Amino acid sequence: MKVLIINGSPRKGNTLTAVKAITRGIESRTDAADIEITQIDAEGKNILPCKGCNACGSMSRCIFADDSPEINEAVEAADAIIFATPVYWWGVTAQLKLIIDKFYARATKLGSGKKIGTVVIGGAELDDPEYEIIQKQFECIAEYLGWEVAFAKSIFANDPKDLSQMEDTLAELEKLGAEL
Ligand SMILES: Cc1cc2nc3c(=O)[nH]c(=O)nc-3n(C[C@H](O)[C@H](O)[C@H](O)COP(=O)(O)O)c2cc1C
Repeated sequence: MKVLIINGSPRKGNTLTAVKAITRGIESRTDAADIEITQIDAEGKNILPCKGCNACGSMSRCIFADDSPEINEAVEAADAIIFATPVYWWGVTAQLKLIIDKFYARATKLGSGKKIGTVVIGGAELDDPEYEIIQKQFECIAEYLGWEVAFAKSIFANDPKDLSQMEDTLAELEKLGAEL
């Protein structure tokens, strides 16, 4: 099984902590030797915003030279994808959205039947509508692409070290990785 983890945070904080916990969970599995984990950190990737030119319709890749083809290749190859993002203004980070928009270049070729897991981390309490809004967005994307949402986890953590002190949540994230 190939697992792709896309980390949407630009800082080494809660999202990275969540990604590491899920990775530990995957690595604890009895079949771990047969699992290949690839992590893509959105920060530092050179992704130009989609301009809606539709040139990708005939090229199956963005007409502009950026890192999106290699990311789309990794998405295409993956059996399972974990999307982990902080909440920025009631949405996913711009870094992650840039990557998602470029799925458009290969929307019919990415492959259906993948499992996805989502981790959304915000500085507001869990009753804030932002978590529902973002998880719904992932749900719609998954439905459109024929993917199955294996888990959707929302976490309230604000300061970069908050999640590293939340032992129960970390154990839950490890379990989600182990059961993916
Ligand atoms: C530009 C920006 C916008 C943010 N907007 C929100 C928001 O709308 N709702 C929220 O709950 N937290 C918001 N936050 C707080 C982050 O979601 C929170 O600190 C999160 O833990 C950051 O994750 P990280 O440590 O992985 O970077 C925002 C933070 C930044 C920097």
